Amino acid sequence: MAATQSGVAEITSARTDQSYSEHVNPQWVRLLNLLEMNVRYTRCSGAELFTDRGTRILDFLSGYCVHNLGHNHPAVIAALHDELDRCGPAMLQSHVAELAGELAAELTRLAGGQLTKAYFCSSGSEGVETVIKFSRVHTRRSGLLYCAGAFHGLTCGALSLMAGSQWAEGFGPLLPGAENVPFAHLKELEQKLATRKFAAFIVEPVQAEAGICVPDREYLQQAQEMCRRYGTLFVLDEVQTGMYRTGKFLAAHHYGLDPDMVVLAKALSGGLVPSGAVLMSDEIYESIYSGLGRSIIHTSTYSENNLSMRAGLATLHALQDERLGERAEQLGAKLRQKLADALSGYEMVAEVRGLGMLNGIVFQSPNKLLLKVPFEAFRKVHAGMFGQMLVMRLFKSKNILTQICGNNLMVLKAAPPLVVTEAQLDEFVAAVQTVVDMVHSSPTFWMDALQLARRAVNV
Ligand SMILES: Cc1ncc(COP(=O)(O)O)c(C=O)c1O
Repeated sequence: MAATQSGVAEITSARTDQSYSEHVNPQWVRLLNLLEMNVRYTRCSGAELFTDRGTRILDFLSGYCVHNLGHNHPAVIAALHDELDRCGPAMLQSHVAELAGELAAELTRLAGGQLTKAYFCSSGSEGVETVIKFSRVHTRRSGLLYCAGAFHGLTCGALSLMAGSQWAEGFGPLLPGAENVPFAHLKELEQKLATRKFAAFIVEPVQAEAGICVPDREYLQQAQEMCRRYGTLFVLDEVQTGMYRTGKFLAAHHYGLDPDMVVLAKALSGGLVPSGAVLMSDEIYESIYSGLGRSIIHTSTYSENNLSMRAGLATLHALQDERLGERAEQLGAKLRQKLADALSGYEMVAEVRGLGMLNGIVFQSPNKLLLKVPFEAFRKVHAGMFGQMLVMRLFKSKNILTQICGNNLMVLKAAPPLVVTEAQLDEFVAAVQTVVDMVHSSPTFWMDALQLARRAVNV
């Protein structure tokens, strides 16, 4: 019976793959196959993912900071069921969405400072588009300032804040007037701001895809102060860092900041339905929605939908009831310490860094000839080859899911759901240590890399 069941699951999986390959995105399937990560997940709970073959995989990626609350949190599921059973108004576009009011009240209360209004949307990119539009109207300026290495999303406006990156290639022309400065450098920032042509400085308080870059307090405080001085809005993209990921509700709270706008998404609605939000000051709201004729000047069909709003409320309550922010702060510090202890002495590990449960293990080129030769050879094939081999090894041999950072291929992420247990953290540390040890001492790792390189060329 068990054999039949697993047989059925595999057939279904093959059919599903085939339809997906034919009609959605065959390149994605090919990539997952190449990396030997194309498994069929049947059930996900907390920080654990189960496959149709009965394998249990530990999630240290959290869908790029979506699953702060853990997968399929019962409170979010119950809220969604409840909302569906209610058969309430949906997409009337002619009524006051009360749940949006409730969620906005809680989000703005938790955010504090001058953030008193919320605009809801359905993704982080849409939130970034919103802050671009709002800052232009509010300041009557068109320039946009962002940080090199940032990730702000893949719609055209958001991509304009990532110009020059691989993500933007071929999609231009992007928005005019967008310029970048190096992250965590005040001098260049002030030079740009002093031109008084920028509507907004849009920055991730901790740069995630750039390699988990945690700035010092002075940088962000000074940046905010300079923005005020030169009439530029100080806008935080907290799509990954928000919702207690770094320990506080917003990463801004670690730094004592009072931003003009904040973008939230990903973990906002608990990982089951899409949602995003832009929090802003009353003054900014008044500039955009300046009269009856402009009451729907910026909106989107599904933005205040009841399912997302209910999921958002349930997510916020569960994050607070279970004190997951404090947990992220305490266990995150422990995780970094344990990783640093376990990985000290390995020449390819440069640093373990992060804030709360947003952490990265930073790798560097080796000096010893025995490692340098294969490392450089694989780097020539593809810059991400080494990091991807780490990801593959952790997945294949240790049943751990994680990834390298999208804009820094030498940084491995350690960002589990905030409900992760200490035992699971220990399992991750031991697994990473084994793989890193293999990198430094066993030809198997490099042989596998060679095979991957050959397969990649032949695919
Ligand atoms: C910091 C940051 N901002 C914005 C986005 C875009 O969000 P979405 O994928 O929901 O459009 C992302 C996505 O990864 C992100 O990491």
